[in-house]
Amino acid sequence: MESDWNPDLYLKFRNERTQPSIDLVNRINLTHSPENILDIGCGPGNSSQIVLQRWPRSKLRGVDHSPNMIEKANKDFPDQEWILADAAHYEPGTTFDVVFSNATIQWIPNHRDLIYRFCSFLSENGALAVQLPKFHDMPLAKAIDCVAHRGRWKSRTGDCSSLFTYHDHRFYYDVLASRLRLIDIWETDYIHIMPSHSSIVEWIRSTGMKPYLDRLTDENEKHDFEQEVLGFIRSDYPLQPNGRVLFSFKRMFFIGYK
Ligand SMILES: C[S@@+](CC[C@H](N)C(=O)[O-])C[C@H]1O[C@@H](n2cnc3c(N)ncnc32)[C@H](O)[C@@H]1O
Repeated sequence: MESDWNPDLYLKFRNERTQPSIDLVNRINLTHSPENILDIGCGPGNSSQIVLQRWPRSKLRGVDHSPNMIEKANKDFPDQEWILADAAHYEPGTTFDVVFSNATIQWIPNHRDLIYRFCSFLSENGALAVQLPKFHDMPLAKAIDCVAHRGRWKSRTGDCSSLFTYHDHRFYYDVLASRLRLIDIWETDYIHIMPSHSSIVEWIRSTGMKPYLDRLTDENEKHDFEQEVLGFIRSDYPLQPNGRVLFSFKRMFFIGYK
């Protein structure tokens, strides 16, 4: 069964996870301050605060389908509006000058329809701004999937990679170009300096590896699965002479204006 998200574990790497939101929001080019902003997959509200730092007078609504994430956002930022809903079906009932979504859409299938829906939430001249991790391209994702297909795990975790949805920049360009004018697409490879290989496993435990671990009921099994992943990634991410590990994390960004 799918477990709920763990905001505390997620926020353990808060600075690293929030940097892409800073880069995305800084590149939105509007001639006016947005009146209202929608943050889709707002998590514990960390990405929302970045958007509000740029436009402190705007009204922000965050949407997430995790009760734990919405509870944490409500507790930490009680003055903002937090909605528990599945973004695949959510109907906001109004339009927004900025529709923002950081590190979320890879969890939701059918990106053509999803992006069309997001575009329909935009006010005239509004901006849709999205970031998604290129997790499937990373040695870490390949290591997790390799372990997931091994004998002991295969029947339970072999299909987990299909729970994520990704396309290349050509796909997103075509989808955006049919609805929006002025499209900006780019990729950034963030090199995170990590203290150890275990910290990479710790990073991914609460996100990309979560669906795999959810399939394993026993804590010992979860531990064994993680140890096998750890074994793989030691060669993919060699130790630097000072003992640090350079964890490269590619992300795709796109912004389109209505
Ligand atoms: C990696 S977190 C990103 C949180 C935050 N936006 C940030 O930048 O750190 C992904 C979030 O997407 C949410 N999410 C995944 N699928 C969703 C869906 N179908 N509808 C709404 N939220 C979803 C998860 O609950 C989680 O909080």
